[in-house]
Amino acid sequence: MTIVAVWCRHKDDNVIGIGPHIPWRVSSDFKRFRRLTEGQNLIAGEKTYESFPNRTLPNRKIYVLSFNPDYEVSDTQNHFVVNDIKEFQDFEGTLYLAGGASVYKTFMTVGAKLLPDIVVDSIYQGELNPELKGEKIDITPCVETMHKKYQKISKDYEEDGVITSVWLKKGDFVDCSVIKHIFNAIENKGEK
Ligand SMILES: NC(=O)c1ccc[n+]([C@@H]2O[C@H](COP(=O)([O-])OP(=O)(O)OC[C@H]3O[C@@H](n4cnc5c(N)ncnc54)[C@H](OP(=O)(O)O)[C@@H]3O)[C@@H](O)[C@H]2O)c1
Repeated sequence: MTIVAVWCRHKDDNVIGIGPHIPWRVSSDFKRFRRLTEGQNLIAGEKTYESFPNRTLPNRKIYVLSFNPDYEVSDTQNHFVVNDIKEFQDFEGTLYLAGGASVYKTFMTVGAKLLPDIVVDSIYQGELNPELKGEKIDITPCVETMHKKYQKISKDYEEDGVITSVWLKKGDFVDCSVIKHIFNAIENKGEK
């Protein structure tokens, strides 16, 4: 199993959301996320899942984390409710962590078995949307873990004011095809 955390955080304060919203609109960042996760297995917290248009993202399997055993997904063929992250321990394949903050924090602080192998770290350099009201949600503890336990394995890619880099857990070996897929998605190269 390979776990890949994918986030875009605001420079300096590591904010990823205000209330339920992502407080910026950068379409190239959204497109990069789509390329990274197309055809893949995603893990999303219930609040993030609810924020997807029509509670779905086409052509992905989505594992929705919720403590509520009766939570209902929008597509029972492709979306699955997971009440306990231990259920992922024997997962075969690659899992992309799509947030939100509670999900990143859960995976970036538990025992090594579910600590992501790779972090795709995007940093938005612009201003936060001043019209949004609500709590600012940040992932500072995850960024601290990343700096302590991971090493950067890429250059900084800059696009539309978002700087993206790839980090690998120190001492980790991962499937080359996963790394290749990530770099192709970031560099916007078509895959065979
Ligand atoms: N910038 C980015 O890259 C990015 C990406 C994704 C999301 N976001 C932002 O992040 C914010 C949402 O983050 P959030 O932390 O409030 O919500 P969230 O992580 O999306 O969802 C939280 C919910 O997930 C469930 N959950 C969390 N941990 C669980 C666990 N260990 N086991 C079972 N269920 C678990 C619970 O659902 P129940 O209440 O149903 O039990 C919890 O209320 C929004 O502002 C969103 O826009 C930003």
